[in-house]
Amino acid sequence: MKHQELNNYFETAFKKYCENTPSVLKINQFLTNAGEEIINDHIALRTFKTKGLSALEMGEFFTAQGYEQKGEYDFPQKKLKAYHFEKKGYPKVFISELLLDKMNERTKNILETLLSTIPEKTSISELFKLEKTWKISFEDYEYLSSQTEYGAWLAAWGFRPNHFTILVNKLNHYSNLEKLNEFLKEKGFLLNQSGGEIKGSSEQLLQQSSIMADRSMVEFKDGIKEVPSCYYEFAERFFKEDGQLYEGFIAASADKIFESTNELGK
Ligand code: NI
Repeated sequence: MKHQELNNYFETAFKKYCENTPSVLKINQFLTNAGEEIINDHIALRTFKTKGLSALEMGEFFTAQGYEQKGEYDFPQKKLKAYHFEKKGYPKVFISELLLDKMNERTKNILETLLSTIPEKTSISELFKLEKTWKISFEDYEYLSSQTEYGAWLAAWGFRPNHFTILVNKLNHYSNLEKLNEFLKEKGFLLNQSGGEIKGSSEQLLQQSSIMADRSMVEFKDGIKEVPSCYYEFAERFFKEDGQLYEGFIAASADKIFESTNELGK
């Protein structure tokens, strides 16, 4: 029963994610045509640090399904904190949260007004289905973007998965990030260059890259606009001294990966 609920969650989450991230199915198609099998390393969710919605409360949905809480990460500049959860045989789940109390008054007011539209006693699994109970004005969205791109993304997309991640180790031909990145660039995809195309190193046991987010339509209070949506990430993991694959994350790399949903030119 439990597995069913979890499998359903990942299936629905992937469908929702693909709706506004057409690059994902294109990349999967290119890779499967090349004979590759695609294994998902992790999904990333974004939320707010506030009662009932925090990353740890969201994580309870996964721990109830047999996941274990593992790493904890701080992003002081972006005013974010994150945790990751693991369960054998399933993608890892990386959940970050915006530290609302570190935002200025106007930002906090805009976001708290949005959050006040969530019906009381909404469970996390209902929240995943609802995704978003509000509409924001484009003016407020733009103001948020100037303060926190992460917060602006949440205001536009709600609790939709932010990214899925191809585990590069499991690819046969494109089995390292350099090769995969070259292939993606040849196919015309734009890679996130913040902090370098490849974030992390083999010494850190994790290397990551990602495409810049696709752009997709969002209904704002004052009309429909195209804004950055979600992106695809690629992770290459290395073996620890004990012979086990490193399953954690590197805060300095994740910090730059967050910028995949930034507006270009900023
Ligand atoms: Ni990620």
